[in-house]
Amino acid sequence: MDSVTLTDNRNGKQYTFGILHPTMGQDVIDIRPLFKQTGMFTYDPGFTSTASCSSEITYIDGGKGELRYRGYAIEDLAQNKSYLEVCYLLLNGELPTKDELIAYDMELRKRSFVHEGLKNLFYAFPDKAHPMAMMSSAVSALSAFYSEHIKMQSEEDLQVMRRRLLAKVPTLAAFAYRRSLGIPFIYPDLKRSFTENFLYMMHAYPGQDLKIPEVQVRALDTIFTLHADHEQNASTTTVRAVASTGAHPYAAISAGIDALWGRAHGGANESVIAQLEYIGSVGRVDEFIARTKDPDDEFRLMGFGHRVYKNFDPRAKILKKLLDELKDELGIDNELLEIAEKIEAVALSDDYFISRKLYPNIDFYSGLILTALKIPKEMFTIIFVIGRTVGWLAQWIEFNADPEKKIARPRQRYIGPEPREL
Ligand code: CMC
Repeated sequence: MDSVTLTDNRNGKQYTFGILHPTMGQDVIDIRPLFKQTGMFTYDPGFTSTASCSSEITYIDGGKGELRYRGYAIEDLAQNKSYLEVCYLLLNGELPTKDELIAYDMELRKRSFVHEGLKNLFYAFPDKAHPMAMMSSAVSALSAFYSEHIKMQSEEDLQVMRRRLLAKVPTLAAFAYRRSLGIPFIYPDLKRSFTENFLYMMHAYPGQDLKIPEVQVRALDTIFTLHADHEQNASTTTVRAVASTGAHPYAAISAGIDALWGRAHGGANESVIAQLEYIGSVGRVDEFIARTKDPDDEFRLMGFGHRVYKNFDPRAKILKKLLDELKDELGIDNELLEIAEKIEAVALSDDYFISRKLYPNIDFYSGLILTALKIPKEMFTIIFVIGRTVGWLAQWIEFNADPEKKIARPRQRYIGPEPREL
């Protein structure tokens, strides 16, 4: 077995640790025996050098700007497969056959209705409540309505839970939006596909047979696919940490939604548009680039940089291409697009960004497309939630099936006062 040896230069003692090999990507040092052997912990704030699990779901090569779900390149999936096919792939490991897809689609359509009692939860929120607050509460509340999933006893329970969650999240998201406006809820329409149904529940009037243009469905479906999973990011790590306590998936995913809300993570898409609007004109871009580089200014360019990608985020490339292809059909806000393109051009030729390997990430362009779909910016992170729910589910399931699973319980380097007397 390959191994590394660590020498403690205080006393010359040597400790050997095995090296585990992945199917692709970086080797990992198996430090599980480290504390027992050395009496020391590792120190790694932000987990920049830590692999927290083994996973078969998603692969990222941040240096090359590569993303794969179950081995398939994100570019191929986004171009050739629907979001539902991608969901099936993430949850089952293989793409569905034609018949499997039809059955899966029908079942999700049927499960997209929520318990009537759940509507009361939305009425309890004050006007102008952020949809993310409603969303995390509503997902947690699902456990009260489907309480058999608190202790899933059988494979059948597990299958029902994952379909239920996936199917109901868009309905809850549309309800959250409509509650924030004080307008009546629209129930799912069984005749419509997953993505079309969401746009319909967002935008229709009661009784209106609203036609959703195919181009809009395609754009949003691609956005869902691009958000579907992203290995051990902050919200997925949260889902796994909550799962590690034995909590049910509704609790774990509700916590994941909260972790996603921050602007360093999923909240960035809302912040990007707010920032583009704030910059306001192409002429002011240089001023804001200068602010980004000023060490005394906390201003950061939203939608730029990534912990893992030190090259173009492949999802941003796909979205930029989609934007170029569909901008006339979708009616993209050209002024904001021009500001975004100028920021990208300036940043990509500026040494500050080049030396730190800061490239546009998925959130940089998604907001422009979502705005054209008449989705307000307060809903952008909710769109991320809808897309990512399948990834969180797949990770929750994988965690629970992992024979090496353990409760998440990191240690610390204590730097507080030494013992003292009162
Ligand atoms: N604008 C300006 N400077 C930046 C930016 C940015 N967006 N991002 C990183 N930097 C600088 C940072 O100041 C630091 O510079 P220095 O070395 O001089 O101190 C250097 O780059 C490294 O930054 P970091 O914060 O240590 O990097 P990180 O890997 O811990 O953070 C990040 C990654 C995504 C939190 C960060 O790049 C960021 O805050 N970006 C803006 C928010 C954003 O777009 N988030 C969405 C991420 S993609 C969607 C998702 O998957 O959640």
